Amino acid sequence: MTRAPIILQLLLVTLCTLSVSVFSSSTSSATDEFLGCLAVDIPPALLHTPVSPSYTPILLSSVRNLRFVLPGTPQPLAIVAPTEPAHVQAAVRCGRRHGVRVRVRSGGHDYEGLSYASVDRRERFAVLDLAALRDVRVDAARAEAWAGSGATLGELYYAVGVASRTLAFPAGVCSTVGVGGHLSGGGFGTLMRRDGLAADNVLDAVLVDADGRLLNRTTMGEDLFWAIRGGGGESFGVVLSWKLRLVRVPETVTVFKVQRQRNQSASDLITKWQSIAPALPRDLSIRVVVQNEHSQFEALFLGRCSRLLSLMRARFPDLGVTRPDCEEISWIQSTVYFAFYSSSKQLELLLDRGSKPDRYFKAKSDYVQEPIPVHVWERTWSWLEKPEAGLLILDPYGGRMDSISPSATPFPHRKGNLYNLQYYSFWFDDGTAEMEKRLSWVNGLYKEMEPYVSKHPRTGYVNYRDLDLGTNELAGNVTSYVKARVWGEKYFKGNFKRLAAVKARVDPDDFFRNEQSIPPLPAAKEWSFIQNPTY
Ligand code: FDA
Repeated sequence: MTRAPIILQLLLVTLCTLSVSVFSSSTSSATDEFLGCLAVDIPPALLHTPVSPSYTPILLSSVRNLRFVLPGTPQPLAIVAPTEPAHVQAAVRCGRRHGVRVRVRSGGHDYEGLSYASVDRRERFAVLDLAALRDVRVDAARAEAWAGSGATLGELYYAVGVASRTLAFPAGVCSTVGVGGHLSGGGFGTLMRRDGLAADNVLDAVLVDADGRLLNRTTMGEDLFWAIRGGGGESFGVVLSWKLRLVRVPETVTVFKVQRQRNQSASDLITKWQSIAPALPRDLSIRVVVQNEHSQFEALFLGRCSRLLSLMRARFPDLGVTRPDCEEISWIQSTVYFAFYSSSKQLELLLDRGSKPDRYFKAKSDYVQEPIPVHVWERTWSWLEKPEAGLLILDPYGGRMDSISPSATPFPHRKGNLYNLQYYSFWFDDGTAEMEKRLSWVNGLYKEMEPYVSKHPRTGYVNYRDLDLGTNELAGNVTSYVKARVWGEKYFKGNFKRLAAVKARVDPDDFFRNEQSIPPLPAAKEWSFIQNPTY
């Protein structure tokens, strides 16, 4: 059978399941009341329920991972597609009044599908799909921009690139990732070593809180403004838009990609890269993608090829980069180069928000603080050359990341981290056996790397969300802080408690909740019962 009919089949089954599970249950009158409440302020064209023909297309419009549209996955009882802040405020207020949680979706790239699917079959939730709130306004003279959460990174980069050849924004490499989720969890890409995370370059934000109020930086206060810049999406409210600091780049930058095979000393090169890349000048970033029997070194340099070559000769001669490897292009063209692996493609590709999901994937991440020995890399090829293998992505830190305090934002992985290591498994064939094979690959390699990565805790990046690290449990009516520390300190280390304290202040009833949302910090008297608080 070809791929299209399989997807179609999946959708039809999903739709049928929904129409049975949601609408024939005893909750139907509560659901009707919730929908009735929404209808007061939200035009019918923006409200999609499982009985509307528009429901499935809009649900799938930004799904990236087929794992979360499999039959039986709990899905929203409504999707609201707001076109103005008042619609978001109404959805939050109606949700609270009628006991329906709201999951927020900007670009839909959440690794565990939490912006549109739930693990808990009993959960009644609606999705707020912010795709229409994607206006990007660039003020080139002030080197600032306002971006709607529903914009993709590609749309943001395009708007910046059109406004000026010498302005840029430091964020991730995949152009379809949504601004809303990306900035909420940090956001790193090729400019990180010079300019930090996307979240480090946020100047202001507009947010709808758990009471449905519209707040900006001044009215939300510095604690909440701190929490939304890296504390992970969903927990604190719905961020509608972000004011961004743009950064200066030269008119011409240089990129290269060079591949080295296993039999061309790839293990040696990766081993050396671990110490070299994080210590390079800030205007050079070289990441590595390792797949099958080859490693690919991918670089962005904020300058001309001639300077890059002399730097490479001095700092990393073994990689053997030569003039023909260089391409001199504009920064905006470099975003196309990294997203689509070609510099000749049209800039307009950045505006493509992507189509229906075409793959299943599962990823995990680590931070590496000491170079992994060469014999371990040698052993890793036996994993990478398996038929069910995925790939590894190594993103170098250092530079500006070393000079930002780990508590400046909730994102704590600063000085002392050489690079982020991502294990990414993906597959196209349906079926449990295939899925188990792929999951077992990613879990097996992750386990094998344990001795060589960060410890106490073994940390990970919240934007590479991984529910294997732990999921929330309730303590009474709210998420248990003690249980959440298991996963929370892996993403946020010592910042987790402060995030929970902010949550207790701005959303004490835990309305914005999902499998890995920040729990409210228990009140002081309950807190005293908690064993071994480490902060
Ligand atoms: P999505 O809409 O699924 O939201 C993610 C989470 O944030 C959910 O919990 C959601 O509820 C919440 N949320 C979304 N919008 C919100 C809002 N407006 N207000 C409050 N909460 C909100 N990362 C990186 O740092 N560098 C990279 O280069 C890449 N590359 C990359 C490639 C691909 C193919 C994928 C799938 C992912 C990445 N990522 C990445 C990871 C990416 O940064 C991460 O998945 C983001 O959370 C995605 O944001 P979206 O808005 O697309 O996701």
